Amino acid sequence: MSQLVLDHIYKAYYSNRRMSEARVVLEDVNMYIEQGEFVCLIGPSGCGKTTMLNLLAGFEKPTKGTVSFNGETVKGPSRERGVVFQEYSLFPWMSTVDNIILALECKRIPEKERRGIAEEALDNVGLSDFYDYRPNTLSGGMKQRAAIARLLAMDSDVFLMDEPFSALDEQTRRKLDEDLIELWKDKRKTIVFVTHSIDEAILVSSRIIMLSDTPGKVIGEWKLDADRDRTLTVPENLRLKKEILDRMPKCACESREEECSCKNREQRCSCRKE
Ligand SMILES: Nc1ncnc2c1ncn2[C@@H]1O[C@H](COP(=O)(O)OP(=O)(O)OP(=O)(O)O)[C@@H](O)[C@H]1O
Ligand SMILES: [Mg+2]
Repeated sequence: MSQLVLDHIYKAYYSNRRMSEARVVLEDVNMYIEQGEFVCLIGPSGCGKTTMLNLLAGFEKPTKGTVSFNGETVKGPSRERGVVFQEYSLFPWMSTVDNIILALECKRIPEKERRGIAEEALDNVGLSDFYDYRPNTLSGGMKQRAAIARLLAMDSDVFLMDEPFSALDEQTRRKLDEDLIELWKDKRKTIVFVTHSIDEAILVSSRIIMLSDTPGKVIGEWKLDADRDRTLTVPENLRLKKEILDRMPKCACESREEECSCKNREQRCSCRKE
């Protein structure tokens, strides 16, 4: 039995109150994710990646089809499936450690155990010197580490991560990617990770899933060996990148996403630079 399942998922949003004008954003998506997989979702902007994460998290309900987790239909959010957003989601008026303690309080962890668990989680992501810092005094990368620490403290089985490092500079992003791979190898969490960077997908994933342009459907899938050489410049990875790029849906401007230089995002051009 797969841990996370999207079974014949359709998702439509209605653009008027009478719910007569539907816009289908996901069409017959089937996905089976096993415990311990590190799955990257890639696809053009607007194809429904965030919608899929929201369905997996239980924030949204499918229009048709079933989302299940460990064999049970997902009916709403659960701490077993934690989310890390692109924008940081810590309370700014509380210290880093208190943010995590609050989450543990919601989980009804006994009061005397909370601080220890929170500190251990922060140690795990390299923030041992920053327990008492407020989020606005941390760098972007540190805030994302703190958000990951919160999932570790909550002992979430599944990490749902929506472009978690895309707002960071390239060097910090790579470091966080590498640390996340180590964490994944160590804790064997299931990770579903959305990215626009093919390099990042090749670096971190155990499986890459590509969605088509709207309405999103699965149009490509690649399995990657956990013990492979992750250096992006080795021939296998360069070959894989080319294969993925060739399969990637084109922008509205008819160029491939990577090559596209038009600035026409408002008109649904999906170009974004790697
Ligand atoms: N709550 C909503 N109501 C109406 N339409 C929505 C809603 N949420 C998403 N959509 C639409 O669904 C489509 C898919 O959106 P989604 O955010 O899932 O795309 P995405 O693949 O994550 O895009 P990006 O890569 O730009 O983040 C978009 O056209 C978006 O406008
Ligand atoms: Mg998105």
